[in-house]
Amino acid sequence: MLNGEYGQGNQSAIELLVAIGDAYDAEQMIPITRAHAASSGQEGDLYFVELLANGGAKCRVPTSTNPVYDIEFFHKLYKVPSYEAEVARRVMEAYKKVGAILSWSCVPYLAENIPLFGETVAFSESSATPYVNSVLGATTNREAAQSALAAGVVGKTPKYGLHVKQNRKGTVLIEVKAALKDSFDYTLLGQFVGKQVGYGIPVLIGITRRPSTEELINFCAMSNTSGAVSMFYIPGFTVGARTVEEAFQGDKPKDKIIVTDVELKRTWDELQTTSGKIDFVMLGCPHYTLGQVADAAKLLERKKIHSGVSFWICTSATTKTLAQKMGYLDTIEKAGGSVVVDTCIDEPCWSTYKDKVGMTGSPKCAYYRRFKDVIVAGLGDCVEAAVKGEYE
Ligand code: F3S
Repeated sequence: MLNGEYGQGNQSAIELLVAIGDAYDAEQMIPITRAHAASSGQEGDLYFVELLANGGAKCRVPTSTNPVYDIEFFHKLYKVPSYEAEVARRVMEAYKKVGAILSWSCVPYLAENIPLFGETVAFSESSATPYVNSVLGATTNREAAQSALAAGVVGKTPKYGLHVKQNRKGTVLIEVKAALKDSFDYTLLGQFVGKQVGYGIPVLIGITRRPSTEELINFCAMSNTSGAVSMFYIPGFTVGARTVEEAFQGDKPKDKIIVTDVELKRTWDELQTTSGKIDFVMLGCPHYTLGQVADAAKLLERKKIHSGVSFWICTSATTKTLAQKMGYLDTIEKAGGSVVVDTCIDEPCWSTYKDKVGMTGSPKCAYYRRFKDVIVAGLGDCVEAAVKGEYE
């Protein structure tokens, strides 16, 4: 493959993997069973996926894709800059050509591409990498879109980093004394822990209630955005270690950090850049689960979103289909909201909001924001503000 005997697309894919392996002194390639490419619909992504697709490469293992945006839907609504729209269209076409699963979802591990316990995989995307390692019990490095796609094409990845057991040991002990009432508190916890730990592997103690799927997704996404947390342990609730000692593989933690409600409140305050009137609400970063869409629908029942506010929920096509069958979509649309598929909050389709004030439940959305100012709060507050047209 490296000599080009399998065509240029395969050659380019394995060249990248060999270069990464060399950089990390990996001694061998190991087979993978699936991959997830954090496609972005932007230029860097376009270059590599077209290089592989036009060179005749095809995915050898199931390889899912991150959201870009629903081109047809947004073109009906707004004038997306034509160059950027063309880039997105070509990216989506090239992933199709290379044989990827066109999930366009940042939580594919819930439905379209689910790693099982013990699988070796190559998953990029902030929530996906730690969720796969720590919740599902498969093994992945913190891949880029390109390295994940290359691994999906070759069916292998270099053995280094988190594919080596001793690199999966905890580094920092986090004692949670905060109350953790709901999934937004897990969002703040992830934001705080990521900032504190950076590139480490946190081991969390003090959590007494089993976190929900959504709480774990939020923790994963935020800790791997404010920091680079590729895996974590909550002994008793996540896989890989039954005890704190096992999580640290017998070593002592390098550091110990205590998290109380005070740290979470400070983290929340630091995320705000404004208050008062809002122009839109953007939810679903990471993509909303069916349960979250249901929660939003319940809060919007018999309510009307303020005429000056747009209300968006991003989710996968799979979830939207179910939401429609279950009547959630109807409730949200009747209230004046929209549920949009295939779409990431960090795409040019949102350029119409660049001078506006947005409200979101996601610090990740705030971090990548394509709008002027941001207010971050939980779902209940976002819905209330959408109805009133402001948040105080
Ligand atoms: Fe998903 Fe895009 Fe947010 S990939 S997590 S919607 S930045």
